[in-house]
Amino acid sequence: MKQFIEFTLNDKATRLETEPERPLLWILRGDLALTGTKYGCGEGLCGACTVLVNGQAAKACLYSIKDIAGKELTTIEGLAAGGELHPVQRAFVEHDALQCGYCTPGMIMAVVDLLTRNPAATDADIVAGLDNNLCRCGAHQRILEAVRSVARIAPA
Ligand code: FES
Ligand code: FES
Repeated sequence: MKQFIEFTLNDKATRLETEPERPLLWILRGDLALTGTKYGCGEGLCGACTVLVNGQAAKACLYSIKDIAGKELTTIEGLAAGGELHPVQRAFVEHDALQCGYCTPGMIMAVVDLLTRNPAATDADIVAGLDNNLCRCGAHQRILEAVRSVARIAPA
């Protein structure tokens, strides 16, 4: 049976009438046309669907929409502010840290979470922090370079 689910999506109060068990990933991509959040494995293994729930990285394929009720949800579409890319987005552009780009939104959301928790992340922290985000192309080294550059400029 459908219910109203209320949450904050990219800083906007949002109210949806939907089946509460529907996967968050399908709601984002199908109902809300927020297709920056990607479908990869559907099992929490690849990180392509990473979003922020209350500021923490979360795999959208593992959540039902009812799990988001009352929470703050941020997708890649909500990361830039005031017409400016987020520093992590800018670093990915500057370091050419993508090939096909399919993993990129999820990678960026995971990095935002990592550097929010640990602005002075070491190399080991960065590698460990991206352990659950897979890149099927040859971009991983450039991704690490991009993250290192932001970690260096982030306040300690
Ligand atoms: S699609 Fe969610 S982790 Fe792979
Ligand atoms: S750039 Fe293609 S999957 Fe990462």
